[in-house]
Amino acid sequence: MVGEPVGLLVAADESLRPAAAALAERFGLRLADSSEGQSFPIFILRTSGLEARLGDGDRGRVLQIDFTDAALERRARQARGEAVVRAVAAHSISGGLVCDATAGLGVDSFLLVHAGFDVIAIERHGGIAAMLCDGVNRAGRYPELRALFEARLRIVHADARAWLQGARRGEYERPDVVYLDPMFAAREGAALVRGAMRDLRAVVGDDAGDAALLDAALGAARRRVVVKRMHDAPPIAHGSARVHHELRDGVVRFDVYEITR
Ligand SMILES: C[S@@+](CC[C@H](N)C(=O)[O-])C[C@H]1O[C@@H](n2cnc3c(N)ncnc32)[C@H](O)[C@@H]1O
Repeated sequence: MVGEPVGLLVAADESLRPAAAALAERFGLRLADSSEGQSFPIFILRTSGLEARLGDGDRGRVLQIDFTDAALERRARQARGEAVVRAVAAHSISGGLVCDATAGLGVDSFLLVHAGFDVIAIERHGGIAAMLCDGVNRAGRYPELRALFEARLRIVHADARAWLQGARRGEYERPDVVYLDPMFAAREGAALVRGAMRDLRAVVGDDAGDAALLDAALGAARRRVVVKRMHDAPPIAHGSARVHHELRDGVVRFDVYEITR
């Protein structure tokens, strides 16, 4: 399945060009000889991994996915206490298949695999999907992480709406839970949008079509759909689905839709 939109990929040195060409082919990225004269963001393949550069020179911020980050590792050790895990698991589900339909930087997927779920992480932006795979590969030098990822995590570059419709038709295994964390416009300008999530937003922009995504999620999930929202944002507008319960955690809220069919 093809994702969108297309990003620009550059190899930092000549020896990385074949690998960059393979990445460009796999993730639908546009390969360029150099970043000169190109507009940001630009995905750059270095020996240290794949990064997204958001601006020029020393002040240009750089986004990379690091599943071995110490702070993330601390959260992963307590994963069952994380709000996203509590919302996905509720009282009745432990383990099972979760479709993280808006994978982004993979933080929530990472917490979910640590909490014992099998996760299909879907990302439609080719550059971000490539960075997720790169992050998983680099983390693979730690045997425990490699074993965990091999056993429980699959990254799919696709538009989740199409994937979920396919799951509903039986083309893929239907997930027990679908988790959505769209990048919505309400986050705009908010002081709450910090660091990596702000940088991700600079790369992918706002997500439109939340209602269609929720609709596809409701059609595919066996047990429940969980949607992350800012604490003061309304639930995603949808013709018929109603939030069954919510879980609040600081500035965010998790809307839970139970599937009753
Ligand atoms: C707010 S970020 C998710 C952050 C993520 N929960 C994390 O832990 O890093 C939203 C992501 O969903 C992706 N996205 C939005 N709509 C999508 C769709 N229909 N299919 C797949 N990915 C989508 C965006 O490209 C973006 O990377």
